[in-house]
Amino acid sequence: MVIAKCGVGKVCAAVCAQTMIFHFGADTLINSGVAGALDTSLSIGDIVIATSLVQHDVDTSPLGDPVGYISELKKIEMPTSSALVDLAEKVAQKQNVRYHKGVIASGDCFVAAPETKQTIRQRFGAKACEMEGGAMAQVCQMNDVPFVVLRAISDTADDRASMDYPTFVAIAAEKMAKLVKEVLKEM
Ligand code: ADE
Repeated sequence: MVIAKCGVGKVCAAVCAQTMIFHFGADTLINSGVAGALDTSLSIGDIVIATSLVQHDVDTSPLGDPVGYISELKKIEMPTSSALVDLAEKVAQKQNVRYHKGVIASGDCFVAAPETKQTIRQRFGAKACEMEGGAMAQVCQMNDVPFVVLRAISDTADDRASMDYPTFVAIAAEKMAKLVKEVLKEM
């Protein structure tokens, strides 16, 4: 098992994912961390298990594509491994934590405005937003490697986000670490 702190943003996540695959021969990738809630049913501290990833900031719509369309893959949504989703769900149930399954939207920006949050939620039906998962997902798809993204909610991606994030990031990260450690044990 190889563990890395990939850094913030899609480029860091892509570099890390490709390094894991090429250099370390990883046959499965898990990305974990914190996320902003897009869906109002999510609260700070809840876990989100991604069933698929999108990149909300990819936009070739002037050429006639839908926003989020990844030309190299010819699609918008990148599905995660159902086996890894099932395993994460089993662990979340065992740990008695509140969890949700759904789409996670990634982009190179910290979402902290109600309008941006609503646009991303409506456009992609996404439950949460973060800045790395979608990039790792694309690398995994391009290399045919199964993956999952697991996140704990640190803020609500609106005008409270810049205050809530520093307050709750450590608590959310700790909850996430506890879950991911158990997932790794069970693999
Ligand atoms: N990671 C945690 N909170 C986030 C937010 N509001 N936007 C993007 N990435 C995040």
